[in-house]
Amino acid sequence: MSELSESVHLEKRGEVALVIVDNPPVNALSHHVRQGILDGIDAAVADDEVKAIVLTCRGRTFIAGADISEFGKPPQGPPLPQVQAAMENSPKPVVAGIHGTALGGGFEVAMCAHYRVAVGSARFGFPEVKLGLLPGAGGTQRLPRVVGAAKALKMVTSGDPIGADEALADGLIDEIVVDHEAGAVAFAERAVAEGLPLKRLRDLEDKVTADRANPGQFDEFRASIARKTRGFIAPEYNIQCIEAAVDLDFDAGIAREQELFRELVTGTQSAAQRYYFFAEREAAKVPDVPRDTPQLDIQTCGVLGAGTMGGGIAMNFANVGIPVTIVERDQASLDHGLSVIRKNYERSAARGSLPADQVEKRMALITPSLDRGDFAQSDIVIEAVFEELELKRSVFADLDSICKQDALLATNTSALDVNVIAASTARPESVIGMHFFSPANVMKLLEVVRGDKTSDQIIATTMALAKRINKIAVLVGVCHGFVGNRMLFMRGIEADRMILEGATPAQVDRVIYDFGFPMGPFAMSDLAGLDIGWKEETSTSSTVRELMCESGRRGQKNGRGYYTYDPETRVATPDPEVEQMIRDFGVGKGIEQREVTDAEVLDRCLLPMVNEGAKILDEGIAIRASDIDVVWINGYGWPVYTGGPMFWADTLGVDAVVDKIESYHADLGGDHWAPAALWSKVRDSGTPLHTVTSGT
Ligand code: 3HC
Ligand code: NAI
Repeated sequence: MSELSESVHLEKRGEVALVIVDNPPVNALSHHVRQGILDGIDAAVADDEVKAIVLTCRGRTFIAGADISEFGKPPQGPPLPQVQAAMENSPKPVVAGIHGTALGGGFEVAMCAHYRVAVGSARFGFPEVKLGLLPGAGGTQRLPRVVGAAKALKMVTSGDPIGADEALADGLIDEIVVDHEAGAVAFAERAVAEGLPLKRLRDLEDKVTADRANPGQFDEFRASIARKTRGFIAPEYNIQCIEAAVDLDFDAGIAREQELFRELVTGTQSAAQRYYFFAEREAAKVPDVPRDTPQLDIQTCGVLGAGTMGGGIAMNFANVGIPVTIVERDQASLDHGLSVIRKNYERSAARGSLPADQVEKRMALITPSLDRGDFAQSDIVIEAVFEELELKRSVFADLDSICKQDALLATNTSALDVNVIAASTARPESVIGMHFFSPANVMKLLEVVRGDKTSDQIIATTMALAKRINKIAVLVGVCHGFVGNRMLFMRGIEADRMILEGATPAQVDRVIYDFGFPMGPFAMSDLAGLDIGWKEETSTSSTVRELMCESGRRGQKNGRGYYTYDPETRVATPDPEVEQMIRDFGVGKGIEQREVTDAEVLDRCLLPMVNEGAKILDEGIAIRASDIDVVWINGYGWPVYTGGPMFWADTLGVDAVVDKIESYHADLGGDHWAPAALWSKVRDSGTPLHTVTSGT
């Protein structure tokens, strides 16, 4: 055995040389890995005793891609194409032995072997698009030569991996083996014994020749993904590369791929998406809770309340095989809650996103009950009753008397004080907030709210549990609205103000939609229901919202809100009557009517949020600026290609952002415009905002 670099070594087994990568955690293609593979191939080719070469990896996976942390830094070591050329042009057969995930650059390297074998659990894909990139080491040119343009388009624009069976059927791998290393060695020996040809994927022509006869497929494909990829640059560039594979010869196609890759990798969208990749992983880490903190063993779950949130929360647990007891206050509410859950599952099965037999299997994991006593043995109980503090306090006092001593007690409150709720029990250390987002079975975000007394064990258990139920958890502290809703309130204040000055709800919504959000604040209010928290008896026509409710406008649910909704299609149309009502209200308040520009709408919606984010950091409510971005991207649809509010502020320049905040504060007033204390620290230190941690 000889060391080729800090992460690659060479072993000889008979006539086969093994180039073995060992670069934990995911064998990313760091510069020393590229150097090691290159040296290993060169050494094996030069060694007369060696007749074939195997490339394989130690640890949990084959090469999972380029080392993302190297992008944007000065290049070191040999470029990847040089490594690939050494493999592809080797006069001795090169076999890749694959386990785990062969992703991105890792898959591109494997594609330069003459043969590929993999274990049955291996997965293959091009996730670059999720980083705002495209496969930049020949993937867009070799892939369609094997699978054809249609499948290649799907793989590179979705970024989703395929399994070994599918890869074998597509010809992307040559054999499924039991052990990636032994299987690859056996295949290499056979290649020598049988004199198998040195197959180069770049030389395959039949698939791209056939695709040349169907040029219309590219625009059809563009149209099919347009809605999902709105605002993103990378999907279109990926398509252009596959087009190039069909239209140009291999080398010209590679040149096009490299040109487009360079443009993406130096652009803001990819920088934002790469930042997000690490931000999401960072959010899982809690600095003051040691990684080895013992966790509770969660095998069963209780949910109190089967309304909008309780039902969705229960589904999350059933979806991963954890039995749930769901308790309601009366039979009608319980029946309704269960019927909504069933309908959700049935709809997924009808769409094909859930195997039909899973509907009954998952329903069978959910036990309905009217008796909270049934929570006695639950490992975790999540409360999702109405948002009323006294109700929640009495519920928690009751849970305290029912639940076993080592149960985890969670509240799904969206804004109430978790410390006050926890204080209604004799075990506040066991109480935590689990703030799911609606629809709770769909939205990825979970704000985990740590109370003053919540124990490390409860925090560690909740963060791990979140991962188990496929949520992206962000740990936050107690304040009104936590991180997400607290910032949302600020946007709401300015949106409400601007429509009284002359902007229309449709204009505000359009600006926010064009920025990349799925919808604007007024469309969102219509969707949630305008009458949340509204009571006819106490309504005094003192806000636009009260006026709307008083005139029978409840939002989408009754087809009339800030917009009118087509009863069939639910398409929203701006309502002149509502616009007039808002104008009259503004004039009645003595507010001068004027044209509000789109640029002002954007500033006034988003900058108070950034300012609030800075205050949240000042107060230690979020651990890091990047956690705030993770919240907004996963909970509210902030476009990931701008990186989230804090990263976005950096792209504008913190100085420019703060100048505007100060200027709006002077012009408009309001606490939400008062500049955060953090600004002077960030300005003085020159630290990028998105890298700030609380307490900085
Ligand atoms: N580069 C650098 N670090 C990486 C990395 C990469 N490609 N992939 C993962 N990591 C790091 C993570 O940041 C994390 O670090 P941490 O422990 O310090 O937080 C650690 O590896 C483990 O990652 P995960 O927590 O994500 O581990 P999982 O087991 O859940 O998932 C995985 C493993 C499926 C490989 C997942 O990490 C993944 O999807 N990685 C990214 C793969 C990717 O995007 N590859 C393409 C890169 S771009 C490219 O190849 C360009 C080329 O075309 C030229
Ligand atoms: P909902 O009104 O749809 O459901 C509440 C359910 O709790 C009802 O079915 C009701 O019958 C039941 N309930 C009330 N008192 C009960 C009791 N004493 N025992 C058993 N069941 C009882 O309300 P929703 O929207 O599900 O909200 C629940 C909680 O989740 C609230 O705290 C809310 O703030 C929070 N939340 C709501 C979100 C949303 O978008 N709807 C988002 C995130 C959190």
